[in-house]
Amino acid sequence: MEFAHIPVLLSETLEYLAVRPDGIYIDGTVGGAGHSREIASRLSENGLLIGLDRDPDAVAVATARLQDFPAKVIQGNYSQMRQILDRLNIFAADGILLDLGVSSHQLDEPERGFSYQTNAPLDMRMSQEGFSAYDLINSWDEQSLKKILWAYGEEKFAPQIAHAIIQARTNAPVKTTGELAELVRQAVPQKYRREKNPCKKTFQAIRIAVNDEFEHLRIGLDSAFACLNTGGRLAVITFHSLEDRIVKQKFADWCRGCTCPPDFPQCVCGNRPKARLLTRKPITAGKAESEQNHRSHSAKLRVIQKL
Ligand SMILES: C[S@@+](CC[C@H](N)C(=O)[O-])C[C@H]1O[C@@H](n2cnc3c(N)ncnc32)[C@H](O)[C@@H]1O
Ligand SMILES: [Zn+2]
Repeated sequence: MEFAHIPVLLSETLEYLAVRPDGIYIDGTVGGAGHSREIASRLSENGLLIGLDRDPDAVAVATARLQDFPAKVIQGNYSQMRQILDRLNIFAADGILLDLGVSSHQLDEPERGFSYQTNAPLDMRMSQEGFSAYDLINSWDEQSLKKILWAYGEEKFAPQIAHAIIQARTNAPVKTTGELAELVRQAVPQKYRREKNPCKKTFQAIRIAVNDEFEHLRIGLDSAFACLNTGGRLAVITFHSLEDRIVKQKFADWCRGCTCPPDFPQCVCGNRPKARLLTRKPITAGKAESEQNHRSHSAKLRVIQKL
């Protein structure tokens, strides 16, 4: 299976994870094993890399690409990381990576139905099972559609697009990415139609909703933190501001100590920081990487160390 995906912020991620040859590392979004191969190649036979992905295609490719390394690849959701490690009798990890969002492979395979650039059945399921984009588009009410277009896509024409979807499906279900893309183009004001991607935000919003990405991210960050050894590092790469905000806030909560009001003469809450922020500002791609890999434009890497 062709799996073309260039890992983003690779050298920066490796530097921040500070891989120890005998350590245990978890890649919660193993994808095409771009980051994982580099991590695993730094391990001795006493080290271990565990790669997780909810997409069976990614699991098959990563398994093949990691076969010569001390690595195990498991199909699963990173929000279940604690339970997965328990089943493997592994208590804690020295480093964990989450490289969020879709892979280029998922976008480039038309039949996965993620892309507005090719016509295919509406699908967008990373795990290839359960509730799909077809189900969402053809069963959710106008209010719910509007809500996700706004909350997950920051789409300013959410009301018009939601209304157009409801109208269209009174005749027949909306079946393909092409039909949906055309609906969006017709729903937005004419001057936006000439924009390169008037559908981008709608497709992003539907993908996030179908895969329940933010809920998994919130649970997944807690689960990953619970799996870290003291001194272990958690690195997260995000691709848009909504995702990044969730990571930033969670990291800030863990790194904050005392929460007493500033006018208290002494601390009564007893809260101490659980983690140390290793990236004051998020790490972004340099000029060379941005020119070479378009996906890296919006990538932000944040890293903490558990105390
Ligand atoms: C950006 S790609 C990772 C690419 C990988 N770092 C590489 O260099 O090849 C994101 C991957 O995360 C997976 N994924 C997204 N959400 C997930 C979740 N909640 N649990 C497990 N895997 C997830 C997707 O299926 C996709 O394969
Ligand atoms: Zn306090």
